[in-house]
Amino acid sequence: MRIAIDGPAGAGKSTVAKKLAQRLGLTYVDTGAMYRAVALAAIKAGISCEDEEDLARLVQTLKIEFGRSEDGETAVYLDGQEVSREIRTPDVSRCVSLVARVPVVRRYLTEKQRQLAAGSGVVMEGRDIGTVVLPDAEKKFFLTASVEERARRRFLETARDGYNVTLADQIKEIVRRDTFDTQRKVAPLTPAPDAVVIDTTEKSPDEVVEMILAQVQGG
Ligand code: DC
Repeated sequence: MRIAIDGPAGAGKSTVAKKLAQRLGLTYVDTGAMYRAVALAAIKAGISCEDEEDLARLVQTLKIEFGRSEDGETAVYLDGQEVSREIRTPDVSRCVSLVARVPVVRRYLTEKQRQLAAGSGVVMEGRDIGTVVLPDAEKKFFLTASVEERARRRFLETARDGYNVTLADQIKEIVRRDTFDTQRKVAPLTPAPDAVVIDTTEKSPDEVVEMILAQVQGG
């Protein structure tokens, strides 16, 4: 069973996909974390987030791996070093939507993502899983929510992590990311024709998980 969960930033994909994977005993794969790891590597190497040639060279040399941290969260390793927290900084968030536009980066990560899905059942979350990475996934869901609600969720997360970002900043950032994600030439964010679209604005993660489980178990 391969379940694709796509949607814009802050729609609740990660929380829902993690819970769903747990309930169904499937592997959870966060593809955004892979793009974030490339963005972090670019920043560390002093490479511009928009320099296609340098990024193409960089991506061939990277080793991105997933593991599990002690508290059961997905841990991300870049060249053997754990970077699970570092990939969530505002600097990486700003860089990643540029990096994700680069065709070579997308080709490389898409291949890796398909390999991860080949071995076992997965709940894979991202922007292009149902459309590009796993177009023949058994179940596809596209989560959305209003810009204000998505910004509010991200604001609470960044405040909890100790970053000094205002709600107004977060609204601007969400609108910026939406623009990049939906308007890029390669694999833009859009629901697959056979995806079930769920508006999560007024729903708790558990309610969304139950809605998805009803679809998955209903056949
Ligand atoms: O889900 P996230 O916010 O961690 O994703 C980070 C960025 O990566 C986001 O700006 C879009 C990009 N991304 C993508 O283009 N394709 C994916 N499958 C996953 C993420």
